[in-house]
Amino acid sequence: MKKFALTTLAAVMLPALAWSVGTPPSAASKPMMLAANAPASKSAPLTPAENLVLGTALLLEKERDAFEMSQVFRLALYLRPMRRVYDPNPNLVRAGDDPSAEKTYMERIRSVIKPELVARIDRMALTRKDMEHYLQHHQPLYAVDWKKHPTFALMEYAVNDFHEQIAPPDTIAAKDKDDFYIPESVKRISGKSAGDGKRLFDGICASCHGVDGQGRFPPIAMKSYLSLHSDHEHFEIIKAGPPQKPGAPIVMPTFGDKLTDDQIWAIAQYIRSWENHWADPKNVRRGEAEAKEAGVKFYSTPDLHGIWKAKNGNVVILDVQSDIAYRIMGHIPGSKHIRPEELDTKMKTLPKDKEIIIVDMFGSQGLAPATALAKAGYKTSYLANGMMDWHIVRDFQTEY
Ligand code: HEC
Repeated sequence: MKKFALTTLAAVMLPALAWSVGTPPSAASKPMMLAANAPASKSAPLTPAENLVLGTALLLEKERDAFEMSQVFRLALYLRPMRRVYDPNPNLVRAGDDPSAEKTYMERIRSVIKPELVARIDRMALTRKDMEHYLQHHQPLYAVDWKKHPTFALMEYAVNDFHEQIAPPDTIAAKDKDDFYIPESVKRISGKSAGDGKRLFDGICASCHGVDGQGRFPPIAMKSYLSLHSDHEHFEIIKAGPPQKPGAPIVMPTFGDKLTDDQIWAIAQYIRSWENHWADPKNVRRGEAEAKEAGVKFYSTPDLHGIWKAKNGNVVILDVQSDIAYRIMGHIPGSKHIRPEELDTKMKTLPKDKEIIIVDMFGSQGLAPATALAKAGYKTSYLANGMMDWHIVRDFQTEY
């Protein structure tokens, strides 16, 4: 059990990459817009959401010192579900989405930047012209067509700007990544026909990520992961690889030079289709059956919240995220922290007479540690949907 949480950081440190990319193929540009998302006329005032997002992005650009690192982290995380409301992807699952996501996350963004900065944004008296200027002068990103989807583009660009502020300074350059061989038979799959996305994924990505997307690498298939990532980000990750630090045990190759935009979009859309799969509680994630068989008990986030609030002395909440995630992304107040790679050696320090509740980031990478603990005779439970649900979705108290 080496690399559980380390890699998940990529999920909150998505590429601060600024490649210019081609226009998406027609399959991706079939718009499914909510009436309220239709592009406003040039003279229309900014919506409150546009005002807040644009203002925050501009403020961050001009006055980086006014923000703390953990604030920028949270801005990037809260903006993600808000952005989803505007995602032009026709396949995006909206049924399970919170209809008031925009309002909810705007409130959280406001509370992260505090009244003083909110007032500063209001004093900026931003107009639609300012927004257009920002969109026009921003590096084109993620193949978002900003003229067609200005609000979505604003949010995608802002997420990227926030990440640029927190991305690790030293990442592996494309030229230092290993080449990756793709068989001719797979290369010939055009990406233009139904089923191509799956065939391309199985032929290229599954060797590392598993056919179910739940291989040894970050949980790119989990519902909580997918709900925070856009297809445009996946497009960019497939093209240029995720940001990785030198010394990473496995480096994801870049595919921009090997696959066409059609092929990349087909894969991104196939990954999105898993969201339907994972929305169905009947489908268990990899490792879940083993964990249950080993006796691990699963808690929903509200259940654990109740247990935590009751301050039950017979319970240890054990956070197994990476150091940086534990500190900057946050953890449940009072939880004990053991890095996943240290669990083997530190397991002995855990009490056998108490219930140990394992907490991870997305509700996936702690499953193996939980199973190991249960097999070693500890009374083990597991927070089913991870810190992302506790913190970003439910806004329960979090410590940094
Ligand atoms: C050689 C192995 C390898 C191959 C092949 C590979 N990946 Fe990856 N991928 C990785 C690794 C390793 C990471 C984690 C990087 C990190 O966090 O340090 C990753 C990360 C990702 C992420 C980001 C996850 C996150 O947490 O943000 C996505 C999305 C992804 N890969 C999709 C794909 C797709 C789609 C393909 C096929 C086109 C693919 N990968 C092919 C190894 C691979």
